[in-house]
Parts: sequence; C-alpha cells; structure tokens
Amino acid sequence: MIDMKKRAARALLAVTFAAAAHGACAQSYPARPVTWVVPFAAGGPTDALARAMAERVARELGQPIIIDNAPGAGGTVGTAKASRAAADGYTMLVGHMGYMGAAPALYKKLAYDPVKDFAPVFRFPDTPLVLMVRKEHPAKDIGALVDFGKANPDKLFISNAGVGSSSHLIAALFAASAGIKISQVPYKGAGPALVDVIGGQVDGIFDQTNTALPQIKEAKARALAVTAKVRLPQLKDVPTLGETVLPGFEASTWYGIYAPKGTPQAVLDKVQQAYLKVMSDKAFTDRLAEQAIQMLPPEQYTGTALGKHTEAEVMRWKAVAAKANVSLD
Ligand code: MLT
Repeated sequence: MIDMKKRAARALLAVTFAAAAHGACAQSYPARPVTWVVPFAAGGPTDALARAMAERVARELGQPIIIDNAPGAGGTVGTAKASRAAADGYTMLVGHMGYMGAAPALYKKLAYDPVKDFAPVFRFPDTPLVLMVRKEHPAKDIGALVDFGKANPDKLFISNAGVGSSSHLIAALFAASAGIKISQVPYKGAGPALVDVIGGQVDGIFDQTNTALPQIKEAKARALAVTAKVRLPQLKDVPTLGETVLPGFEASTWYGIYAPKGTPQAVLDKVQQAYLKVMSDKAFTDRLAEQAIQMLPPEQYTGTALGKHTEAEVMRWKAVAAKANVSLD
C-alpha cells in the first residue's frame, strides 16, 4: 500500500516537473534563432512571402528566423527534411497547398504524412496566380493562347516549380479544363522558372502575384489571365480565367507554418500569438494586399483552422487528381 502511494507521488512529481519544464521552455522560447524550411529555390513567391513573414514574426518573438531553402521534387524534399527535425520549436516548415495538400495524391512514395507528421501552427493569407507568357509569344490574349494550344499540341511549354507545386497543379488543371495538351517544364522553384519565361526559353508560367506583379509592371512578361475569382485591382485590364475560357475556375496558393509533431503546445501557441499580432498590424497587411495577397477571416489564421484545412485539402486533391487525371510528368 505504502509502495503504491510512493509510486503515485513519484508519478505526480514527474508530471509536475514535465509540465513545469514545458512551461519553462515555452517561457524561455525562443532562446536562439529559429529556422523556417522553404522547400523551393530562393527568389520565388514562397520564399518572398516567407521572408516577409519571418522578418515580422521574428520581431515579436525576439529572435531571428532564418530561412533554409531546401528545394526539390515540388517541395517534398524540404518537407521530408522538416518532418525529421527535432520537435523543439526551433525548426518549422513553410507549408503549401502542393506538398501539404496535393502530394499524397500525386506521389506513390512520400517520405512524410502532412497530417500525421506535423503540428499546424498558423496559416498565411492566400496568393492568387497570374498566367504569364514571354513577350514575343504570338498569343495576345487568353482565348488566343487556348487556340494556339489546340492548334499546336505539346508545343506550349509551361514552366513550373516542380511536380505538385501550385504552378504545376494549376497549369495541369487549366490545360485539362481548356482541353489542350501542354508540355510542363519543371524547375526547383517559380523563381528560376519565371527567369526562363522572361528570357524566352519557355512560353509561360502560372506564377503567384507577389513575384509576378513586378515583372508585369516592368513589361518583362505579358499577363493573360488571373486565377482569382474577380479581377485584381493591380491588373484591371487582365481578365480572370473564370470570366473567359474556364467559367467558375478559381484557384490560389494557400500556405501555413507547421512544426514537427510533438513540438510542445505552449511553444506552438506562443508562435501563433506572435503571428496573430503581426496580422493585426494594418501597415503590414496593406503591404501584402498591394501584392494582391488575399487576407482571410482572422479565425482562419489559427493552427486549429490550418489543421482542419490541411486534412480537407488532402481529401480534395485526391478527388481532383482522380477526376482530372493530373499526371506526374
Ligand atoms: C509553386 O508552388 O509554384 C511555388 O509557390 C513555387 C515557389 O514558390 O517557388
């Protein structure tokens, strides 16, 4: 009997110590720089948005956030790396619609599970995409591009950020819906993929607005359509795909920060609080809105909401991939 009491007391002590340790580590977190893994090449939309967010969230947390670009296989290489990191809050993943939503439907062998291996921390605002073509391309509008595609199957070379990236997925959905066959040209990120459109090596790309708008403003590439539901104030003369060749078509890239599963909840909560404070900074969100980044209702920014969204997206892309026969090449 005495033995049972001693053991219960010891167990209670252990739990108290663990909770205290957790509390303590959350209080002192972060005690050193934090790393965010970006699974695409530097200079692309994911990298640009992650660096803007990291700079602001770091100010709230009081420690630098370092961006670790780990590109490859549409983002699945960097994501696998993040899934193997220590669950101590010092390594987090910049997650994305492709490798955290669609990848389970596209890759037979995936080295991670977006839902089982990660703890959702918070969600970024969404970014719509622009279909851009090289300056010299004969298609002057979206209708002409679809006609060109119909007349020249597989001779429309569209660059993307790798299999399962949003630039790949949305180009595949566009082609399938428009009834044209395009040749997709993969890169390690939309950054290098866009450079080759501007250089004329490939015909076009679906790129996110935060990196597309500056190139369009400088007339380095031509915008033919946007994937947003309504026209963008920054591109008043550019139609939506929905109002032209693909009625009802709408797409944007969603993002979120994830931590390896097992990261203390108190640490996740602290990072989420820092982010929600950043998103209440109107000057900051206005700067994002200037890049046509779409703010969400605040309740959708939380880790809990991101978790539910991730599960729903994994299911949705399985259905999309089956129906649209999105191929892996
Ligand atoms: C994509 O999915 O196309 C990206 O967001 C690519 C990138 O950020 O480089």
